[in-house]
Amino acid sequence: MPVYTNWLEVDVGALQQNAQAIQSYIGASRTLWAVVKADAYGHGAARVAGALTQIGVAHFIVASLGEAIELREALGAQPFRVMTLYPPTTDAEWRTAAEYSVECVVDSLEGYRQACAVARALGRVLPVHLELDTGMSRLGLTPAQVEPFLAEFRPDAPLAWQSVFTHFACADSDAEFTREQLAQFRVAVEQLRRGGFPQTPLHAAASAGVLSAPDSLLDAARVGLLLYGIAPSGWEAHPLCVRLRPVLRWRARVIAVREIPKGQSVSYGACWRAERPTRVATLGVGYADGYPRDLTNRAAVALHGALAPQIGRVCMDMLMVDATHLPQTQVGDVATLIGADGDACVRVETLAHLLNTTPHEITTRLGQRAKRTG
Ligand SMILES: Cc1ncc(COP(=O)(O)O)c(C=O)c1O
Repeated sequence: MPVYTNWLEVDVGALQQNAQAIQSYIGASRTLWAVVKADAYGHGAARVAGALTQIGVAHFIVASLGEAIELREALGAQPFRVMTLYPPTTDAEWRTAAEYSVECVVDSLEGYRQACAVARALGRVLPVHLELDTGMSRLGLTPAQVEPFLAEFRPDAPLAWQSVFTHFACADSDAEFTREQLAQFRVAVEQLRRGGFPQTPLHAAASAGVLSAPDSLLDAARVGLLLYGIAPSGWEAHPLCVRLRPVLRWRARVIAVREIPKGQSVSYGACWRAERPTRVATLGVGYADGYPRDLTNRAAVALHGALAPQIGRVCMDMLMVDATHLPQTQVGDVATLIGADGDACVRVETLAHLLNTTPHEITTRLGQRAKRTG
């Protein structure tokens, strides 16, 4: 008897197939950096990275040093490369990164100085990536900072440059903006080369860039969303997205069923009222598990192979659905909040669209309490 009323099913077979489809789409000569930050977008980083290493994916990206260390500890002796997106900001962080063989980002002149100083003190060569800011205005050398960087750059410094990269701001929505960012990136890379910076792999595209800007594929792609079988907003019909399979299924048990008369309200605020006698199924899942409260009265779950509209305000630990058209519904039935059940399917992309957010936000908030199963 399961002790949890809702859980996340992670289909590692689908994940592995997605990774293979993405690798064949970008071409075998390009490196696939699998983005597994934020607990692999809610899917469970250790399990996801473990399954990917089994099919030869050996490059992972996380945000923080803490996430990188957790991944090293979870995967044990398994050989893989891991890169953080946050640049270390203290000597201590650089030292810890060196200790755990984590590849870090140099995103400023100060970061370069700090990395050199720590590498010299340790008597080691540190693997690093250089980030260029071409329009995100969050991390990376700006075009104006490339020259001052080159003025201090020493080819014999104890750093092993692994790549130069940038990140797109509007790859899912603005082709012109993306073209300009890519052009700026190429100019800065050229400037680096003229200034004696070594030749390294280049990368720019994340999931949306892979789909929308094939000329931005360069030597590698940093892919999160597509790995999990989720399309960036507006790209659901792209041939690659059509081939991918959702990795996550989020399910919850029906913990109560009741019949309510016409006119009766459901949940806090009484913001849903029955227009006819209604069969209400209560599910053991709520906003504390990551189901957005803003989906109140807007989404549906899959139940018995059909969609059942969510009704009444989403509570912390429960939500209610209208199961009037599914008279067989009883306590113990399993509803699907994200994923397929027979012919009915609730896609993350749909929920993201309803909330005017990205699919990333939906999945990264899942699983505060929900357990992941295989
Ligand atoms: C720098 C960087 N690269 C790659 C990614 C992966 O993006 P996506 O999940 O859209 O592929 C992210 C995600 O936030 C990112 O910040």
